[in-house]
Amino acid sequence: MALKRIAVLTSGGDAPGMNAAVRAAARTALFKGIEVFGVYRGYNGLINNDLFPMNLRSVSDIIHRGGTMLFTARCSEFNTEEGIQKAIKVCNDNGINGVVVIGGDGSLRGAQDLSRHGMPCIGIPGTIDNDISCCEYTIGYDTAMNTCMGMVDRLRDTAQSHDRCSVVEVMGRNAGYLALNVGIAVGATSIIVPEVPFDFERDIITRMKMTSQTGKKHFIVVVAEGVGGVMELADEIQKSTGIESRATILGHVQRGGSPSVRDRVLASEMGYHAVELLIEGKSNRVVATQNDSILDYDIEVALRMKKPFDFELYNMAHEISI
Ligand code: F6P
Repeated sequence: MALKRIAVLTSGGDAPGMNAAVRAAARTALFKGIEVFGVYRGYNGLINNDLFPMNLRSVSDIIHRGGTMLFTARCSEFNTEEGIQKAIKVCNDNGINGVVVIGGDGSLRGAQDLSRHGMPCIGIPGTIDNDISCCEYTIGYDTAMNTCMGMVDRLRDTAQSHDRCSVVEVMGRNAGYLALNVGIAVGATSIIVPEVPFDFERDIITRMKMTSQTGKKHFIVVVAEGVGGVMELADEIQKSTGIESRATILGHVQRGGSPSVRDRVLASEMGYHAVELLIEGKSNRVVATQNDSILDYDIEVALRMKKPFDFELYNMAHEISI
């Protein structure tokens, strides 16, 4: 059946650049004569029939904004068969025969459920965690890295003035990609990620003592939220070294802000590609990036893939921060 009307939704944690993806998907479809409905608050909106028709101007003035104009949510009802059936019925009742879902791995599972129940669906990876294995860069990751870098640069100013150690927790759920890259960008003495077993003496204290001997007086320790415990870590560091230590959890500030060029362009390409796939009659695909190209994978295959952690980069980070 020819594609006549699509729905676009954002789901899970918001990520800067989601708006650019919504815009691109909506405009691509409208340009090709396909009607578009925006869905509010992720799968909740599909279940509760909370959607609205979009025109070319519905997505004006959003490309530079963080967050998502469609709002977002995590929807437990959609994890049930009844919830999925309700969503499918809402799609059918509204004449929707294609859905674009922008979100993280939970959202992609939802896209898989819709596809399995006969509703053609394409996923776009949007998460600051960059933890979608098939995709080198997810929407929001670049902006979040830059936001974190800016925040930690500020922490460094004050840590430097007081000869202190600043212990900073960055997001990433169970993944350390954000922490590793931010840690390198801010010249952290130690970067603690869930992918590498943590040894307090070896990974923090020895490094601080070693660098102190060559004159270093302030320190940045970047900790991924998947490891956590920055308050206790700061206390322990202070006790072990006598260096005043302060903990900061960057928190949700990392998810906000105007998207970077990279996120806007990536999101635009992904939104465009997602609609092209629906037009080609494809379903259950996730759009991805590899080596600066846009491609797509079967969602099931994509969710089974494992993203390698860059141990070379991790080792390099520690070799150069002495
Ligand atoms: O997945 C994005 C993310 O920001 C994670 O880094 C974090 O663990 C989680 O979402 C926080 O979720 P919430 O917004 O529900 O507190």
